[in-house]
Amino acid sequence: MKIGNATVISFINLKGGVGKTTSAVNVAATLARRRIRSGWKTKPASVLLIDLDPQSNASLTLLKKEHYKVIDNEDKTLYKLFSNEILRNDDEESIDINEIRVSPIEGLNLDLLPSSLKLIEIQDKLVEYSRYYLSSTDILFNALNKLKNPENKAYTHIIFDCPPSLGLITLNGLSLSRYFIVPTLLDAYSYWGLDKIVECVDRLRRCKASCLVELLGVLYSKVDTRATIENNKWDKEFQSWEKEFDEWLSKNIRRRGDESIIFNSRIKSSDIVRKAEAENCPLIEYYPTDPHLKKQQQEHQQEWEALVSEILERIDSRNNKRRSKIDQTDLQLF
Ligand SMILES: Nc1ncnc2c1ncn2[C@@H]1O[C@H](COP(=O)(O)OP(=O)(O)OP(=O)(O)O)[C@@H](O)[C@H]1O
Ligand SMILES: [Mg+2]
Repeated sequence: MKIGNATVISFINLKGGVGKTTSAVNVAATLARRRIRSGWKTKPASVLLIDLDPQSNASLTLLKKEHYKVIDNEDKTLYKLFSNEILRNDDEESIDINEIRVSPIEGLNLDLLPSSLKLIEIQDKLVEYSRYYLSSTDILFNALNKLKNPENKAYTHIIFDCPPSLGLITLNGLSLSRYFIVPTLLDAYSYWGLDKIVECVDRLRRCKASCLVELLGVLYSKVDTRATIENNKWDKEFQSWEKEFDEWLSKNIRRRGDESIIFNSRIKSSDIVRKAEAENCPLIEYYPTDPHLKKQQQEHQQEWEALVSEILERIDSRNNKRRSKIDQTDLQLF
């Protein structure tokens, strides 16, 4: 499914605490500072981050607590969209997402659709949702397509931060995503659950003709380099996990051409991530005055920059392959 010309990416893993939210927020914010290719020209990226996780960590990272409390109390969150959808009569319109959309950081081309803990109640009610012309997994698609954009700005990228589960709300995001990225830790259990998520997304794509979602890559996040530098035993352990993981991937997940399943860019574990979170901002918008922290921020931001470049390259390369496939089909027709 397509939302205008936006490239839609979900960050998902069934495991908790693996860096989904941190990756979704930092990739979205880093992208929002970029210029991206548009035909022969470039244009500023414009990003919409959608927090699908009732834990609301992405919303809380980007909004000050007091601001978020007001938003949540007034139900200016995705809860409003889903609860209204369940309650409304057939002849009433679904809500305009503009009512809940916020621009959390001044000067950054990044908008947010905040989440709420109240979404937990909605998950169960959605199971019984029935409208003969709309399925429970297409509510978000419908609302996004009807998004009235007063500034006439079209999003170049839509990013979903997904919860560590595959409930109906997550399926709303995956159904309209073009790609999914799986952040994972590099440890003895890293591939546990990975087969499940890839299998479930694959099934969704097979069963739902309009769903085009495909794996863009697996991202090693929170990589603990201190352990490897300080301790030789850990270094060996890391290498053996990496080898084991790679063997598992090649057996269980289809590689696309010669592209590696794992992103070359890795995100190291760094205290600076938590410090930026505590200031309610993505790393790119965190400006510490302490020279040591400033250096740490710059070094860590380089990792997000490298990841975003790799994501954009992968997307470009897949688009080119698709285009050349279409051209070949055209040639065969003549
Ligand atoms: N690169 C990093 N360095 C240090 N700490 C990190 C890093 N990335 C994430 N963290 C911390 O790890 C914790 C879990 O990260 P995050 O919330 O992104 O994971 P998640 O997969 O979204 O978790 P959940 O499944 O609960 O939604 C957070 O406290 C975050 O601050
Ligand atoms: Mg999260």
